[in-house]
Amino acid sequence: MTHSARIKTMALEIISKQLFKHNFVSSLKKSFPVCYTHSSSDLIKKESKHNAQNYQPIPVVIKKGKGSYVWDVEDRKYLDFLAGYATLNLGHAHPEILEVLKEQAGILSHTSRAFFNNILPEFVEYITNYFNYDRVLPMNTGVEGGETAVKIARRWGYRVKKIPSNKAVVVFVRNNFWGRTLSAVSSSTNPTAYEDFGPYMPGFTLIPYDDTAALQEALSNPNVCAFMMEPIQGEAGVIVPKDGYLKEVRRLCDEHNVLWIADEIQTGLGRTGRLLAVDHEEVRPDILIIGKGLAGGFVPMSAVLANDNVMNVITPGSHGSTFGGNPLATRLAITTLRLLKEGAIDNAAVMGEKFRRELRNNLPKDVIPIVRGRGMMNAICVNPDYGTPWDLCLELKDQGLLSKPCDGNAMRFTPPINMNEIELQEGLEMIYKAVKEFSSTKMQRRA
Ligand SMILES: Cc1ncc(COP(=O)(O)O)c(C=O)c1O
Repeated sequence: MTHSARIKTMALEIISKQLFKHNFVSSLKKSFPVCYTHSSSDLIKKESKHNAQNYQPIPVVIKKGKGSYVWDVEDRKYLDFLAGYATLNLGHAHPEILEVLKEQAGILSHTSRAFFNNILPEFVEYITNYFNYDRVLPMNTGVEGGETAVKIARRWGYRVKKIPSNKAVVVFVRNNFWGRTLSAVSSSTNPTAYEDFGPYMPGFTLIPYDDTAALQEALSNPNVCAFMMEPIQGEAGVIVPKDGYLKEVRRLCDEHNVLWIADEIQTGLGRTGRLLAVDHEEVRPDILIIGKGLAGGFVPMSAVLANDNVMNVITPGSHGSTFGGNPLATRLAITTLRLLKEGAIDNAAVMGEKFRRELRNNLPKDVIPIVRGRGMMNAICVNPDYGTPWDLCLELKDQGLLSKPCDGNAMRFTPPINMNEIELQEGLEMIYKAVKEFSSTKMQRRA
């Protein structure tokens, strides 16, 4: 190494130590041979220049997460009330899941389903017992779970219900969200999601959410093979249906020999204070889709569960995925599912109840007229006279709490479900302050 190169390296080392007290920088240096910068604004500029503009992130650059907290590159600490879009149910870097990750990654991470591996059999036995279904089909992302469910339902429609070839219909609800593939956007009612991505998937019908009369009418078409819906609509703004809706969905699907597909990708795994949101009404869908934090939020994983009479329409070669069922994700899933039942789900019910009660009692009703949700899946609606949920999000960030708007004028809060009372209280205080700032800024603007 030349003298000037050595000096350059030493200088970089000193600057790095000053800026970051973690091993993070040295590992970054190894993986990034090119020059990199550290400030939030530089990183945001770099990403905006080279990344496809398919998101509009809140302007904070996170470098580290632990439990319910994250830190930005300037070492500011935040409470994470989004948790990776309701994915990190047990928080960031859960120590026990992390240990399993390290161990399994060093033993065997991926084989493909070309062969058997020694973890997948344990996982499929564990998860089918856990959710009480005969079979599981492991996938990766949530939207693949949805695609899988629709494929299973269509094939069941032809082979079991005897719907004429290529005539099967799947019923969806308005304002659904199940991802970004062509099928998912074909069933979307959000123009931003579907516009100019046509032609769209045929055989999809839409009805209003939480409307059993509309469901009854739609299911009277003998070519309907399935009704797919979220037991609580997430992206639409945390829309909780009326009590009894899910029971009636079950009854109507039985009456018309139609499969009920419950998309529990966001609502499942304890998020609403029960293991599944359908558990609130003690009903069971024919096809269950779970995803998000199934593998502890460390790697993507989704799964579709059904009984033999439905799942057995899937035969070798008819469906698959290179990564689905890999030993790393499946082992993480076993650990995550076990940990969820060690108090986190009950915690979500208790903390969620407190969260909504405190918000209702302490937020000004003219600014925040609506607080709704179940367990740790909640939203508040912002009176548009005062500003937008985006404006409020920026105020929340300045107070030290991260979240993101969802559809309409709603702000969602989906923190880790194992968040403790002290952290929750800290979050509540930040929300009160942010709403105060938000409304007074608007007042100043008006004056
Ligand atoms: C209810 C629901 N279904 C499906 C999806 C899609 O999941 P993914 O983004 O992992 O494809 C989401 C994502 O937010 C969701 O909330």
